[in-house]
Order: sequence, then structure tokens, then C-alpha cells
Amino acid sequence: MKMYSGRFAFTLSVILFFTIIPNIQKSHAANEVHDRIFKPTSSPFSTALETLQKQIGYNFQNVGLLRRAMTHGSFSEENNRALSILGGNVIETSASLRLLGKDIDISSKDLNRRLSEISKVESSCTSDGMRLGLQKVVRVSPKTNSSTPGVVCSAFRAMFGAIALDIGKADDAGDIFWNVHGGDVGVGDALAWKNECYWLVNTHSELSFMPYNLNADELPSPIA
Ligand SMILES: *[C@@H]1O[C@H](CO)[C@@H](O)[C@H](O)[C@H]1NC(C)=O
Repeated sequence: MKMYSGRFAFTLSVILFFTIIPNIQKSHAANEVHDRIFKPTSSPFSTALETLQKQIGYNFQNVGLLRRAMTHGSFSEENNRALSILGGNVIETSASLRLLGKDIDISSKDLNRRLSEISKVESSCTSDGMRLGLQKVVRVSPKTNSSTPGVVCSAFRAMFGAIALDIGKADDAGDIFWNVHGGDVGVGDALAWKNECYWLVNTHSELSFMPYNLNADELPSPIA
């Protein structure tokens, strides 16, 4: 009797094995087909989002936030307008922390001036966004030029808003901003370098071709 039930159990396992395995494989195959049809992994936009995440060194848990950040207001109701406000605030908070950390006696006028230099649409934020190629990623309406400073800048800021929301706090988004914006070279250092250029221009007449209205963000890095 004991032996019989043992053999019965064995037979049952064998039967179960051969009936269940093919079904598991079948449902696996079905999932693959489902994934191929419904997951937008191969669209150019999704590919661009993958590349962008590699460029900035951050992988989104919810990539939908990055999709939204790369969607201009002209494209759809679901767009990056609110995210870009958050992103702008993340950038300004992080910059304020750094500037005050370096110099607690900085005047409110200087602080404001430096903050506006960092987030100026015409220079800093557009060139950072262009360097990442956001003008080629951001979705806009057919009539909208995606290379205009306003479009590039809102996408750039929205990206940091999206990161902050994805993580649930602003600190890491600020760090990623500094990596993208130009490593740990603070604005103060960039301005010192700019002043050095002015000094060079003023003391070496052969260098007088250098423009006086240089933007600190567009200058090459100082030689270490
Ligand atoms: C789009 O905007 C950029 C930057 O303002 C400009 O250089 C370019 O000529 C514009 N392209 C078109 C097709 O209008």
C-alpha cells in the first residue's frame, strides 16, 4: 500500500510536469508577443529617452515622468509646464545652497545675480539643454520650432523636476544638475575665470579680439 501510493505520487508528478511546463512556455511566448506589440520600447522617442537617461547618469523608476518632461505644452494637454517650474526651483535651491555655503556674507544682490546667470533662458539653461540634444528629443506640435530657447529651456528644467519627483526629494536632482551643468566648478569659479579673461584682454593687446560680453558658461574650462 505504501509502495503503491509512492508510485502513484510519482506518476502524478510526471503527469503534472508534462501538462504544466508546456503551458508555462506558452504563456511566456504569449507575453513576448504582447510585449512586442504593446510596449513602446522601439519607438524613436523611447530610444531617445533611454539615451538621455544614460547621458545624465540617472535611470528613472517611472520613465513616464521623463516622457512628460520631454513633452512641450504645444504638443498635448499632458505636458512639462508644471514640471519645469519645479525643476527651476530645484536648480535655484541647489545653487543657493552652494553659493551661501561658499560665502555666507554674499549680498542678496549678488546672490540674485548669480542665480539668474545660472538659470537664464538665453544662455545657461539653453546651452545646457542643447548640449544634451534636448531639441531633438522634446515633442512639440508640428508648427513649433523645438530649437527655440523657450522650448529647450522648459524641457531642461522639467527634466530636473521629473527627477525630483521620481526620487521624492530635490537633493539628488540638484546634484545631477551640477553634473550636467559643469561638474563641481561653481559659478564663483566660472566668474573668476571670466575675470581672468578680462584681465588678459586688458593687459595683452594682441588678445583684444576677445569679446567683452563673454558668458561664463560658454568659456572653455580653465587649465588646471
Ligand atoms: C528654430 O529656432 C532656432 C533658434 O532660435 C533658429 O536658429 C532656427 O533657424 C529656427 N528654425 C526654423 C526652421 O525656424
